[in-house]
Amino acid sequence: MNRYTKISCLFLSLFLSAAAYGQRKKDVPLYKDAKQAVEDRVQDLLSRMTLEEKVMQLNQYTLGRNDNANNMADPVNDIPAEIGSLIYFSSDPGLRNKVQKKAMEQSRLGIPIIFGYDVIHGFRTVYPISLAQACSWNPVLVEQACAVAAQEARMSGVDWTFSPMIDVARDGRWGRVAEGYGEDPYTNAVFGVASVKGYQGNDLSDPARVAACLKHYIGYGASEAGRDYVYTEISDQTLWNTYMPPYLEGVKAGAATLMSSFNDISGTPGTANRYILRDVLKERWGHDGFVVSDWGAIEQLRPQGVAKDKKEAALKAFTAGVEMDMMNKSYDTHLGALVKEGKVSEDMLNDAVKRVLRVKFRLGLFDRPYTQVSKEKERFLLPKSLAIAERLAEESIVLLKNKNKTLPLSGVAKLAVIGPMANSKWHLLGSWRAQGNAEDATTVYEALKKDFQGKAQVMQAAGCDFDGNDRSGFEEAKKVGASSDAIIICLGEKAQWSGENASRSTIALPQIQEELLMELKKLGKPLILVLSSGRPLELNRLEPVCDAILTMWQPGIPGGKPVSGVISGRVNPSGKLSMTFPYSTGQIPIYYNHRQSARPHQGKYQDIPSTPLYDFGHGLSYTTFEYGELKASVLKARPDGKIAVEVPVKNTGDTDGMETVHWFISDPVSTISRPVKELKYFEKQLIKKGETKVFRFEIDVKRDFGFVSNQGKKYVEDGDYYVIVKDKKVKIEVGR
Ligand code: NOJ
Repeated sequence: MNRYTKISCLFLSLFLSAAAYGQRKKDVPLYKDAKQAVEDRVQDLLSRMTLEEKVMQLNQYTLGRNDNANNMADPVNDIPAEIGSLIYFSSDPGLRNKVQKKAMEQSRLGIPIIFGYDVIHGFRTVYPISLAQACSWNPVLVEQACAVAAQEARMSGVDWTFSPMIDVARDGRWGRVAEGYGEDPYTNAVFGVASVKGYQGNDLSDPARVAACLKHYIGYGASEAGRDYVYTEISDQTLWNTYMPPYLEGVKAGAATLMSSFNDISGTPGTANRYILRDVLKERWGHDGFVVSDWGAIEQLRPQGVAKDKKEAALKAFTAGVEMDMMNKSYDTHLGALVKEGKVSEDMLNDAVKRVLRVKFRLGLFDRPYTQVSKEKERFLLPKSLAIAERLAEESIVLLKNKNKTLPLSGVAKLAVIGPMANSKWHLLGSWRAQGNAEDATTVYEALKKDFQGKAQVMQAAGCDFDGNDRSGFEEAKKVGASSDAIIICLGEKAQWSGENASRSTIALPQIQEELLMELKKLGKPLILVLSSGRPLELNRLEPVCDAILTMWQPGIPGGKPVSGVISGRVNPSGKLSMTFPYSTGQIPIYYNHRQSARPHQGKYQDIPSTPLYDFGHGLSYTTFEYGELKASVLKARPDGKIAVEVPVKNTGDTDGMETVHWFISDPVSTISRPVKELKYFEKQLIKKGETKVFRFEIDVKRDFGFVSNQGKKYVEDGDYYVIVKDKKVKIEVGR
């Protein structure tokens, strides 16, 4: 081919492709063109939609088996092709694809459905509950675990998870404390951001990522007396300084969606709260994704006493800023009429639809609506995924007590593993286990047998059930205990005792479990208490009689392996509490960052101690760490200044260990009474035996010393502040 022929060929092919492009442009609407910008595609699609089509995008029904005992609904037998979203309880991409095909081919505009599901702490590779994850103080690991959950879920047909829950929670009676990251706002913010990053990655259209949902916006963790679905009383000061910060950070991290809460916030339900949904979230923070109601939360505005009927509930929720109706059947029934009656403006409707479509486009659903069919073994329980779950479970374990170095256990020839949790798989997965299969988990007994193989004979007995009055197993348990050199007693909570709608009036273990422990104590052997629960527990009667106490929370699929690693010394524990263990239920609410009181040395309980049994941040290691003095780069700073504070930490024991340094601040004199101390930063590092590591906190004065006014504005006052690490502190003077 000579030069001229080459050039003419080039022109010809350019002409042909331009013609083809022109052709496609004519036949294929812009919104179907993957090359166009998301906003243009959204606008184009919106301009083609009828009122009915728009309304249908704003509804979520369920598909298939409903495995959520607290949120049952009539199964929707005939899924309309125009439905906006479905809750998808299956792991079969085939089912999803069948329903998606109907949406793509039978709806006029071919708008894909977004499939959502509660992937809370793993999909099939279930990892520890969120409360436990926070005890690892390892957000990098949490991000990795959430990425595993996202990969398993997306490859199974789920586009969107209703997670993370970032409700600060300070009442262990509330079953949902299991689902969040504990009592501290900063901790909830950091782990919330880590999970958003893990779920979403940098590109929502990645076939191994899902859209995240920050929930429950807002204040659900303040549910009065730990009862679920009830009211909350939250001052503006507390709203802005305690409940809002994790949401602001989650929105900044790019969370695609949020879920409105069930509770009312000082009289205005979260689901009808225009101030928090519209004024703050959408206008001030600029969130451009959408808000889904919680299950039934729109129609619950009626029993909450702010709507006379479902139609008014729909009007209130929609105008407040809830774009998607989760299983209320209120938008599909009433929204169209509300628009026709002029009660809801076309603009507001269009804005809501745009928000939903925007997330669908970002997920790539228009371009790849179907899930590639794969074998379960290609997506579930991959060695890499299991390793992440196991490491997270190891780092989540908190060694609460270790008298005379009882642990790690050595020199025992016979080991008794007793208690209802000793050989349980089921309860180790906790609530919201998604597609988790308890058969994949290892029990504590099985794991100990493996770790002590060739070293000790491991014997097991249940002794009793989790509750009830059947003591017939006590004798056998005592026999097994009597013939051993040490007793590991595994107590705790059934999986269904925490999670949604799982409030308890006491956080003590049932009487029968405590009795079993007391009976075993009489045998005079070293007694090691291993706990598994979804909340902090009341341990004041058990604590004095146990030589060592560990909580493994609900570890998920790794089951008893991590805790067995700690008991045998294979793993050096590094977890620290993300939620205070009260001395007794009567102390609740008790949390480290309470405000200063008028008489700090008075106002104590007359009948019980006034301090918790185990503080926030408590957790032991098999090694010891010595903290040096805090060194600040400057002792005076401007309100817009920056300061670096360092602390050297030496591993003075005889084994390597990981240590988390918690950096607190305090502002003893301010125009408002502030908490006694507030966590502002933490860092975890491995410190080899004999080694010293320097931990550093880069302070931004306004961000870290400031507080938020009751109008939501962050500011910092002049005055003296303290930076605190353990019992060390340094004073910083802030002035203009
Ligand atoms: C109700 C729960 O409050 C919420 O957290 C969950 O995501 C939805 N049901 C969907 O199951």
